[in-house]
Amino acid sequence: MALQVLNLRAENYKRLKAVDITPEGNVVFIGGRNAQGKTSVLDAIWAALAGGEASRATQQPIRDGQDTAVVRLDLGDLIVTRRWTKDDSGTLTVEAPDGAKHSSPQKLLDQAIGARAFDPLAFTRLPAREQLAALVATVDLPFDPDELERERKGVYDRRTEIGRDVTKLEGQLAGYTQPDPSLPEAEESAADVLAERERARSNNEMYERAVAAEKRLMEEINELEEQLREKMNNLALLQDAALQLDRPVDLAPFDERLATLEQTNARVRAQQQRAAVAAELAERKQAHAQHTLKLQQIEQRKAAALAEVEFPVPGLSFNDTGVTFNGIPFSQASAAEQLRVSVALAMAANPTLRVLRILDGSLLDSKSLELIAELAAEHDYQVWIEVVDESGSVGFVIEDGEVR
Ligand SMILES: Nc1ncnc2c1ncn2[C@@H]1O[C@H](COP(=O)(O)OP(=O)(O)OP(=O)(O)O)[C@@H](O)[C@H]1O
Ligand SMILES: [Mg+2]
Repeated sequence: MALQVLNLRAENYKRLKAVDITPEGNVVFIGGRNAQGKTSVLDAIWAALAGGEASRATQQPIRDGQDTAVVRLDLGDLIVTRRWTKDDSGTLTVEAPDGAKHSSPQKLLDQAIGARAFDPLAFTRLPAREQLAALVATVDLPFDPDELERERKGVYDRRTEIGRDVTKLEGQLAGYTQPDPSLPEAEESAADVLAERERARSNNEMYERAVAAEKRLMEEINELEEQLREKMNNLALLQDAALQLDRPVDLAPFDERLATLEQTNARVRAQQQRAAVAAELAERKQAHAQHTLKLQQIEQRKAAALAEVEFPVPGLSFNDTGVTFNGIPFSQASAAEQLRVSVALAMAANPTLRVLRILDGSLLDSKSLELIAELAAEHDYQVWIEVVDESGSVGFVIEDGEVR
């Protein structure tokens, strides 16, 4: 179902007294001097179609001094009549050409009619942020651009923090001396070395005693032949005991180790700390690289998703700051390009109600008007254009709330 305005009748809506307009062709000019009711004509169309939001935007829809306002739109397949009254919320009827009334008229209008009030010229003049919001509302995006941007920023900030850790740890690492492979891995305990030394010392003492006893016994053996057998026994026992002991051990190395132990242990500690810092640095570096990869993945996901989006106009896209056309900011496209794109967007946003409006038509030069007329004819849209005109020769001339 494609709908256009075949006939518009409005009474007492805003500045209007009574107008009856049967447009012809794809471009409908509403001309006349200032404050005569031109915008009121265009508003009447959208006020008739839109529900609550339009009535809230217009505080006083009924012309001063009147009690009711009526707008009747003949859209071919639908006839829409909206009535405003001073005392209640008014009425809306939507009927088929044969007079059959629809039971939920506003619901039907809401379903049949998309972004009614899309004014392509107004779009070209929106700030970049609002333009972006308007575009996003007309296309099916497979992702939420704000959410994706938040995610990207989160990863980016986290990576910056980790990067600071990396720099700090690198500085710390540089403060240590290079590792010495000859150092033991762990600090040595003085108590252990002392205990070892004590064992060696007592071994030595016993050894010396044994030797002395042996010597004495040998002398006694010489002197006391008769006790030889018994003493020989003792001697054999002692010799056995001596065999159980280590050979005399040099104690000097223990003393040397003890003398340098504290110094060596300090170096061992430093070496252990250095190894810990190096390990943490490696871990942070890896995390940093992972975050860089994540950022790349987000950019890739976004690029891939954007490549999937079907924009209503070839060359149209957007980036973080706004709408782009052929890769450059929309505001930098030529005036004709901006108008062409906006009209195409407006058309894409209104596939059923094939009616667009341009409130600031006086800003368009003849070339732009020609372009709009061409696009309207090519895609069979009806474009209502308000133009300030004093000659009285442009379109439907509105004068004092009526068609002259
Ligand atoms: N409910 C109302 N009753 C009476 N007059 C109204 C009402 N609403 C608006 N007006 C008057 O209508 C005039 C504006 O009407 P409208 O915007 O339709 O004019 P216009 O022809 O589009 O003017 P312009 O060329 O300046 O855009 C103003 O003078 C305003 O005071
Ligand atoms: Mg106006």
